[in-house]
Parts: sequence; C-alpha cells; structure tokens
Amino acid sequence: MHGIIYYELRKFVESRYGGANTWDALLTQSGLSDKLFFPNETYPDSDLVSILTAASAATGKTVETLQQEFGEFIVPDLVTTYRAYIKKGWKLLDFLENIEEAIHGTVRRNNPGATPPQLSIARVSPKEVVIEYSSERKMYGVLHGILQGVIHLYQEKVVVNVVSQAPVYKIKVVLY
Ligand code: HEM
Repeated sequence: MHGIIYYELRKFVESRYGGANTWDALLTQSGLSDKLFFPNETYPDSDLVSILTAASAATGKTVETLQQEFGEFIVPDLVTTYRAYIKKGWKLLDFLENIEEAIHGTVRRNNPGATPPQLSIARVSPKEVVIEYSSERKMYGVLHGILQGVIHLYQEKVVVNVVSQAPVYKIKVVLY
C-alpha cells in the first residue's frame, strides 16, 4: 500500500488516539517496532492489517469501525494533495463518477508501486451513482469511510445503500 496511507494512519492514530507514544506502542504490538513509513514509498498491505488489528485490540473497536474512521479522516488530505485533478465545478456525484479516471488513475500513473482499487462506477441517473468495488483487499470499512468523508465535504444530502455483497460489493449513492 502507498506510503501516503501509512503516513495518514500515523497522523490518524496520533491525533485521535493519544499521540506519538500510542503510535510507537501500536508498532511494537504489531511486530513492526520503530518502522518508518515514507509517503513516497510502498509497503506491504500486511503492515496495515497488523496495525489495525493491534489498534482494535487496544481500543475494543472492530477493525471495520477503525477502517471507517480512518477512511473518513484521510479525505481532506487526499483531496488537498490531488486537488489539481478535481474540477472546481464538480458536485458530489460528479466527483464520485470521476474517481477512477481522474484520481485513482492518476495515482496509478504517478506512483508505480501503488494499486488503488479498480472501482467500476456508473452514473445511472442524474441523481444516482453505483460503485462496484472488487479489490482483493476487501477494505469495506475504508470504502465506506472515504465515501462518508467525501459526502461530508460536499455537504449534499444522499442515501448510501449496499446493494450486493457478492460476487461484487456494490453500493448505490442517491441524492434526495
Ligand atoms: C481525492 C480522492 C482520492 C484519492 C487521492 C485516493 C487515493 C488513494 C490511494 C493513494 C490509495 C492507496 C492505494 C495503494 O496504496 O495501492 C487508495 C486506496 C483506496 N481508495 Fe482511494 N482515493 C480517493 C478517493 C476514493 C473514493 C471516493 C473511494 C470510494 C468511494 C476510494 C476507495 C479506496 C479504497 C477502498 C482504498 C483501499 C485499498 C483497496 O481497497 O484496494 N478512494 N486511494
């Protein structure tokens, strides 16, 4: 996973769960003592899984809940970093419709080690977007967290429904 994710994970832990000592303790509990994560490198996905599992044991929250909190937390920084690829006139559904082309596609082109999920996104009507998520990582919490973060940013009223879980995880976002 892209180092920006680990950089953000550290920021998330330190700002929400108690500072640098908490991060160091989590790394130790994850078997990753003193490991440094740089935003321009990539690291095994298993590091993220280990850190979130240790965080779950320490907080009593599920990994899915922590993924969701983390996903929501990273949106403002992701949007700032990639603002050049986000059109000013876009509203929420325009943004979602363009994640693959404008954002994850750019991440893939600019960071050879990064493999953001291939999202299949359809604007089925002016008021509705359907997102299909089929990443091997199965980070449903991150998916929902990022989505909530983006919704919060655009301040538009929508309903999010999980339409199917298998064979493909499919979400519907509808304006009301
Ligand atoms: C400005 C907006 C966004 C940026 C810059 C961004 C960038 C990234 C980056 C850098 C990663 C890590 C990929 C890797 O290390 O291989 C990632 C992962 C991910 N992104 Fe995005 N993303 C954005 C918006 C979204 C949105 C709106 C969604 C879905 C609603 C989404 C869903 C995910 C998920 C679920 C992952 C976790 C990895 C996986 O499941 O395979 N992202 N994104």
